[in-house]
Amino acid sequence: MSEVLLEARGLSAGYGGQAVVHGLNLAVAAGEIVCLFGPNGSGKTTTLLTLAGELQPLDGATWLLGEECRAPLYQRVRRGLSIITDERSLIFGLTTRENLSLREDLVADAVRHFPELEPHLDRPVGLLSGGQQQMVAMARSLAARPRVVIADELSMGLAPQIVQRLLESLRAAANQGVAVLLVEQHLAQALAVCDRGYVLNQGRVVVEGSADELRRQSKAIEAAYLFGDDDSGPDA
Ligand SMILES: Nc1ncnc2c1ncn2[C@@H]1O[C@H](COP(=O)(O)OP(=O)(O)O)[C@@H](O)[C@H]1O
Ligand SMILES: [Mg+2]
Repeated sequence: MSEVLLEARGLSAGYGGQAVVHGLNLAVAAGEIVCLFGPNGSGKTTTLLTLAGELQPLDGATWLLGEECRAPLYQRVRRGLSIITDERSLIFGLTTRENLSLREDLVADAVRHFPELEPHLDRPVGLLSGGQQQMVAMARSLAARPRVVIADELSMGLAPQIVQRLLESLRAAANQGVAVLLVEQHLAQALAVCDRGYVLNQGRVVVEGSADELRRQSKAIEAAYLFGDDDSGPDA
């Protein structure tokens, strides 16, 4: 078993002292992609934000790189954590190149990860498609050579091929030893690249297992947890 780089131990988390995540135990080892599934409002983002140091635990603890960690996000980032959200944290008025050069010059590395960005380097990043923007955000995250990547709903509103590209780049990072914790709506697409997964419902883990185990139960998981709200899910 590889070294565990990111962990929640008995974690309760929430807002204004009210827990929406209860007693969560979760671990991500170097080289693994672990996926968090669950319906809207089940506590996935709250879990990620607490593991990233944006929210303080109400109970239990978060561990980073094998140590209990209470540090805020910016300090966790210095220790090797990277978080990617669907907000993408890009400055829309600056070009792609400028966004990739804000702190250090990550342009060459970004283009190596996503060659399709090259023709768009000198355009304002706000004019790129959502998928291209997410590639810029992902490239910038990976170019910083994080040891732990936390990604929330990368694929929101993106075409399946783009989602595939983004997931493959996370798989490549994991294969280099990065620990990846991913929230993803598309069960089948995520299970194709991840190693293990957890299903959250109302802030508690209700199913966990290897990608193979979850694939075998995927119809039941979708029926019970993932398409119970206004999202009718994929046609096929
Ligand atoms: N900033 C906030 N303040 C208060 N409650 C929140 C806040 N963000 C989310 N919540 C509540 O916490 C619960 C879990 O939300 P969230 O973690 O965003 O779920 P998910 O990411 O699985 O959709 C929901 O009931 C949601 O309404
Ligand atoms: Mg969310």
